[in-house]
Amino acid sequence: MRKWRRRTGHICQSVCCSENVNLIVLGDYKALSCAGADWFEEGIREKPDAAIVPATGDTPMGLYRELAERHSRGLIDTSQLCIFQLDAYLGLAQDDRRSLFGWMHRVFIEPLGIAESNVVRLAGDVLDPWEACRVYEAAVRAAGGFDLSVLGLGPNGHLGFNEPPSPPDAPTRIVDLTPESIVSNARYWGGEEHVPRHALTCGMDLLLAARRTLLVVSGTHKHEILHRAIEGPQTPAVPASYLQSASHVTVLADQAAWQGR
Ligand code: GLP
Repeated sequence: MRKWRRRTGHICQSVCCSENVNLIVLGDYKALSCAGADWFEEGIREKPDAAIVPATGDTPMGLYRELAERHSRGLIDTSQLCIFQLDAYLGLAQDDRRSLFGWMHRVFIEPLGIAESNVVRLAGDVLDPWEACRVYEAAVRAAGGFDLSVLGLGPNGHLGFNEPPSPPDAPTRIVDLTPESIVSNARYWGGEEHVPRHALTCGMDLLLAARRTLLVVSGTHKHEILHRAIEGPQTPAVPASYLQSASHVTVLADQAAWQGR
């Protein structure tokens, strides 16, 4: 906390610390991104060969830019990290502009200089995507589970594409996207009609077993779901609410998300 305040020069406030969830509210998106990068940097310093699952979506983009910047200045060593894809649209080729693997590649893998051999795909474009889910699960387990997980919060409380209802033991699988997720993802791809209807997602079981989780939440539109996720009952209707019983969860929210204005 103190370190973040010094580095970012922005106000931050630790709002509540439950046994498992440490919520930190930061002045704005820039401060949130710097604090997220600090969290990440600390995690990989502790474990240079960490197994990491990073989300796409808008919210972590500032954090990734900040990491890329630190990497370009030689401040962080990413050479041994192993990166796992969080989610994928079903049936999209890797070079489809909507591919979440492509997105992760552009914003995370490339700028951080991660070797291709250290990246594990969740392949949505293969003949047997269910088999791809099993292969992915086996790879995560072989790595000993995730050390660091960087997640965004879906407007309906989803994590990755664990759409509501998702129980805490939901495995890696193919899911139908909810109308809410289709609407919210439309902004990335220029209209609802471009958003695929099905996806593969890393399961709740693997995500909740991560050794450390960072949830980044920004903007007034996330206000209500943020409060439901960290203060409401743990329920399949809000998959992110299960983070309340995961270990070592840090939630970074900006004032807008926390206060709703
Ligand atoms: C998408 C992704 C999630 C992401 C979430 C929030 O649907 N599948 O991995 O975290 O929505 O996105 P954003 O950060 O843009 O609000």
